Amino acid sequence: MSERPVGVFDSGLGGASVLREALRLLPNENYIYYGDNGNAPYGDKSDDDITALTMACIDKLLSMDVKAILIACNTATAASVSKVRQLMDQYSIPIISMEPAIKPACALPGTGKVFMMATLATTRLDRYLALQARMPDPSRVINIPCPGIVERVEAGIFDDAAYDDLFDKYLAPYRGTEVDAIVLGCTHYPFIKGAFARNAKRYLRGSCTLIDGSVGTVRQLGRILDRYKLRNPCGAGKVEFHTSGDEAALKPIFEKLLMQDKK
Ligand code: DGL
Repeated sequence: MSERPVGVFDSGLGGASVLREALRLLPNENYIYYGDNGNAPYGDKSDDDITALTMACIDKLLSMDVKAILIACNTATAASVSKVRQLMDQYSIPIISMEPAIKPACALPGTGKVFMMATLATTRLDRYLALQARMPDPSRVINIPCPGIVERVEAGIFDDAAYDDLFDKYLAPYRGTEVDAIVLGCTHYPFIKGAFARNAKRYLRGSCTLIDGSVGTVRQLGRILDRYKLRNPCGAGKVEFHTSGDEAALKPIFEKLLMQDKK
């Protein structure tokens, strides 16, 4: 049992899509959220730069005495998971990470493709490619880098049509493809599910079921807290927000994201 908070971080505000699930599924925990907005987006950076930034975020949260750390960022996970594992041994603090939910997507019946949409870094990093190689039919999964979305979400733009120009670039090459599932492989994307659904309809055939990994990740956090006997029986889901960016501008957007209804 521990009343210390759980630390959650992302390159920016995207991790709020995971935190809102944590608040729903683990409401007795308190949370410290750290958004590295000053350095976002991570998705266009080199592996070494992403790893260095991820380590700095972990250090920052450790300095705030968190009992566990949830890396609510697919890009940070893909770039730095081996270093993160070493850290776990060093600090004996559980660190939970997340990766694109292609496993449940590939378990869906159907003859269509699975589109995995994520940052450029995630789509090319070895850790993610190894995950893809473990799927029953890796060629069913098409990886689509989506530069440009993160910056708009960070700016608080959520109107579905405001993303059409970007989706034209991502999906026009696949016009008419039958798609069973679209994996939202970046934690910023669940906030614009409407834009994904609208553009899937414009370009693709098939059910195009949208899949995001936040519920699975939060369930894993719950299991890990149980394993380490770290559950908080009396917290009230308090959230403290910290950022390396402009806090006055970002906090209202962060709060709006936490409250946003899931479509
Ligand atoms: N939200 C992050 C993810 O899940 C990445 C965003 C970025 O490019 O900084 O991958």
